Amino acid sequence: DPPEKRVPRPPVITVMGHVDHGKTSLLDAIRKTNVTSREAGGITQHIGAYKVNYQGKQIVFLDTPGHEAFTAMRARGAQVTDVAILVVAADDGVMPQTIEAINHAKAAKVPIIVAINKIDRPGANPDHVKQQLAEHELIPEDWGGDTIMVPVSAHQKTGISDLLEMILLVAEMQELKANPNLPAHGTIIEAQLDKGRGPVATVLVQRGTLHIGDTIIAGTSYGKVRAMINDRGEKVKKALPSTPVEVLGLNDVPAAGDILDSTDEKTARGVAEKRIAKKKEEEIKLNSKVSLDDLFQRIKEGEIKELNIVVKADVQGTIEALKASLEKIKNDEVKVAVVHAGVGAITESDVMLASAANALIIGFNVRPDANARKAAETEKVDVRTYRVIYDALNDVEAAIKGMLA
Ligand code: GTP
Ligand code: NA
Ligand code: MG
Repeated sequence: DPPEKRVPRPPVITVMGHVDHGKTSLLDAIRKTNVTSREAGGITQHIGAYKVNYQGKQIVFLDTPGHEAFTAMRARGAQVTDVAILVVAADDGVMPQTIEAINHAKAAKVPIIVAINKIDRPGANPDHVKQQLAEHELIPEDWGGDTIMVPVSAHQKTGISDLLEMILLVAEMQELKANPNLPAHGTIIEAQLDKGRGPVATVLVQRGTLHIGDTIIAGTSYGKVRAMINDRGEKVKKALPSTPVEVLGLNDVPAAGDILDSTDEKTARGVAEKRIAKKKEEEIKLNSKVSLDDLFQRIKEGEIKELNIVVKADVQGTIEALKASLEKIKNDEVKVAVVHAGVGAITESDVMLASAANALIIGFNVRPDANARKAAETEKVDVRTYRVIYDALNDVEAAIKGMLA
């Protein structure tokens, strides 16, 4: 992407700050719309993305959720942004998520403009907010520092144009440019499964141009762009750098923060399949207790040094025989240990014990009862039942050697 092919692009601004300090209201005031009244419970659930025009110049805004549960998503919000607007309520002051937001912006090396909001409130104290922010190395310009702080009221729509002018000023100093004549590259801002339309992803195009018909890959999802809708709900045929669009046509729902690239179909499918396989491997490691099917792989990776087994059988004699034979099975990497053995059907308590010990269950001439079956499913405990002792021994041996049929 040679620099001479790059052309100016609009700045991308992320609005951050503590819950209820007025991020969405401020954006409403900027857009002169009313998004907050449509939000369930007044808490922003997704990162909304909007393009606005101010004095003939475009600015893209990302609204990030203020709730603590969305910290991870907000952290990603700072990665795609050119300028962070830190919203601090003048009556509430600096709060835990204000500090988090400062840290995210600093980590992303993104300049911060502070919007001191709710200055219409009776308890508003902008000077106190400045004092608090100075403790976090944000020194206001009027105190000799270099952080722009603009007092605003989203409700009374005061200070809004000052804020927009400051945004343009800071953005212009960055000389933001991108080459539109490249395959599209961007970031998934949010995504969901729509009943009628399938996976719908809000994409911020950052480089290149995204067109209808382009093959795209985002995380483990891929597909052909079937339709694109801009932030005003209009269908569009292409999206240039710094444009947020809803994209239809992915085969699955990507995750917020996933990188999107436009490529050929074969590459997209190949890369997606590789990522899916990798993800599955990681999921198995994270979620599942030991099972005969993935045993060898996990032994190879040094994750399992001892195969724990719970043995249940119909008669005591069988248990003794099974236990002795099982504990003789070993190879260089792993040995077998029977952590519990008993006569009778496989019960829920056997499953819970196996789950705690990361063991699999071998039943000989017995079966799990209904509660045990249910528990095995939720606890992801591998339950194997046999009628022939040698079948049980052969399976365990084969699993350890990576030769299970
Ligand atoms: P989350 O997305 O949930 O983190 O909240 P938010 O930061 O987007 O805040 P939101 O815009 O939802 O506003 C929170 C509350 O503060 C609402 O009741 C708003 O009406 C109120 N509010 C926002 N801005 C102002 C303002 O300038 N003045 C006054 N008085 N109230 C405001
Ligand atoms: Na809110
Ligand atoms: Mg909000």
